[in-house]
Amino acid sequence: MSGTSGVSVAVVGLGFGEDFLPVYLAHPDVREVAVVDTDERRLAAVGDRYGIVSRFTDYAEMLADDRWDAVHVLVPVPLHADFAVAALEAGKHCACAVPMALELDDLQRVVDAERASGKRYMMMETTVYGREYRYVRSRLEAGLLGTLTAYRGFHHQNLDGYPEYWRGYPPMKYATHALCPLLGLTGTTIESVVAFGSGRLTQERRGRFDNPFPAEKGLFTLRGSDVVAEVEMSFFQVARPYIEGYDVHGDLGSVEWPADHVGPLVVHDLQPLEEHLPATGLRGRKSVTRLVEAPDDVSDLPPELAPYVTDFEVHPADGGPVLLRRAEHGGSHPHLVHEFVSAVVQGRPAAIDAPTAAAWTAPGICAHESALAGGVRVEVPQFSAGRS
Ligand SMILES: NC(=O)c1ccc[n+]([C@@H]2O[C@H](COP(=O)([O-])OP(=O)(O)OC[C@H]3O[C@@H](n4cnc5c(N)ncnc54)[C@H](O)[C@@H]3O)[C@@H](O)[C@H]2O)c1
Repeated sequence: MSGTSGVSVAVVGLGFGEDFLPVYLAHPDVREVAVVDTDERRLAAVGDRYGIVSRFTDYAEMLADDRWDAVHVLVPVPLHADFAVAALEAGKHCACAVPMALELDDLQRVVDAERASGKRYMMMETTVYGREYRYVRSRLEAGLLGTLTAYRGFHHQNLDGYPEYWRGYPPMKYATHALCPLLGLTGTTIESVVAFGSGRLTQERRGRFDNPFPAEKGLFTLRGSDVVAEVEMSFFQVARPYIEGYDVHGDLGSVEWPADHVGPLVVHDLQPLEEHLPATGLRGRKSVTRLVEAPDDVSDLPPELAPYVTDFEVHPADGGPVLLRRAEHGGSHPHLVHEFVSAVVQGRPAAIDAPTAAAWTAPGICAHESALAGGVRVEVPQFSAGRS
């Protein structure tokens, strides 16, 4: 850390990036916050709203300024890998929105840059810091799900009207939200994938990507686990509201995501086989089903960050009207920020360091490769900090 105590952080990209500003500004170990965006109007509006005086339109200029210890990158996905490598090579710690990169070679570049720099990289995967994930994990750890048998992750989001760089985006290259909860729960990685494209992307939706599919479906095998993960992704031409979640099935209990994305989780507990069943002619074990609102747990957060796990008000520094900000993604944002800042302060790898982020991002890249090849099985490479 430069100079006086605390981490100084530059937030880069002020769309989704704005959601993280109040959290960094409140964190007791963050000394100063800068904002970076090529869009001058957005930079001025957001800077004014949060009273942030350090503003840059040029990422390289900010990187050359040694006042900044760390960056949080939230620019368009095609820039993620280059921005992360540039930050690490400039001697800065780097948090980055998902996915880590779009190509396998770029995953390795970031892994290598993290190792060479001695700085901290963290992929800010929201799904494994949300209240739902914590609830599922607590049931698994308490033995209430039994042994995991099956997993289904899904992410459907209509990207019509999104910025141009999303046009034709291969859905599987954004599979982290659908897949990572299982990888977090099992502590393992993906071994291979078989995937198919579904539907045909209309000509006007095709962008810079090699992708003819509006939707993709894949089956992923795990290393050291018998569970097969089924993942369903769509960004175009699927008529349903946004949903980003997962169902986890064990031999004793299951947790399923709400069908309309909001609201309580659906929890099933398998009951013992009723002894009188054979006499009645009925078959099969029953499950008891109930709806559960996953609770928030702020016990591992500094008290200053606790308000940000639920919707909160922003009182603009420029005197503008009070804004309500939604605590999206299961209240995960303060938890992510705290993990990243803590890794920097404590000088240890972040929970989703570069090798982990590469292992979590590569399966989706390989799934798209499989889909393009009509469903051939693709082995997913392994990443370690020692590989070059
Ligand atoms: N749940 C999640 O984890 C989640 C949710 C939303 C978005 N994201 C990710 O966050 C990132 C940002 O998403 P978004 O919806 O805010 O995108 P956006 O396109 O709305 O905003 C991106 C911002 O980056 C700025 N920008 C573009 N190029 C730049 C450059 N060279 N230097 C500095 N700034 C630049 C743009 O001006 C814009 O303000 C994406 O990678 C997206 O995948 C993740």
